[in-house]
Amino acid sequence: MPDIEALIAAHVRDVPDYPQAGVLFKDITPLLGDADAFGDVIEAMAAIFGPVDKVVGIEARGFILAAPVAYEIRAGFVPVRKKGKLPSATFAQEYDLEYGSAVLEVHQDAFAAGDRVLIVDDVLATGGTARATASLIQRAGAQVVGIAVLMELSFLKGREAVGDLEVRSLLTV
Ligand code: PRP
Ligand code: MG
Repeated sequence: MPDIEALIAAHVRDVPDYPQAGVLFKDITPLLGDADAFGDVIEAMAAIFGPVDKVVGIEARGFILAAPVAYEIRAGFVPVRKKGKLPSATFAQEYDLEYGSAVLEVHQDAFAAGDRVLIVDDVLATGGTARATASLIQRAGAQVVGIAVLMELSFLKGREAVGDLEVRSLLTV
């Protein structure tokens, strides 16, 4: 097993003042573009929690990681999307971001009752995105097993924002 923390640290690029002044953007595209790094990270994320029924990916960067994780553990994939993108009946949840606010949605019939669900995203920052996603999953009648992220920005205290939900990150900065 590779040193996954070192691998991520070496392949994530810090971009200062993007998308606005004062924000240090964590750019995962160098990691995604490296076949070995991408594969090792997907395997590591898939191993974090036990078997689940569904993996939820959060638009947009979460999709890139969540779909291969779902494939790897043979779970269904459910997209949580930004407002107006899902065609059938949805639950909607407003949330605050590190920069701005937005609305996330999930299809009302995305889960079977009591489905065990893993949330996958690239970054846990303030935790607003993950908390809103967990709320959508619970409103849709399923159970959140945990939140797996590539990277946690601990100074933004996202772990506190998500309350009792179990968060596991491959790299904490
Ligand atoms: C980013 C990141 C996480 C979220 C974390 O998504 O991909 O989903 O912010 O922030 P939080 O913990 O403070 O909520 P963003 O909505 O910026 O854009 P994306 O569509 O590129 O994923
Ligand atoms: Mg995102």
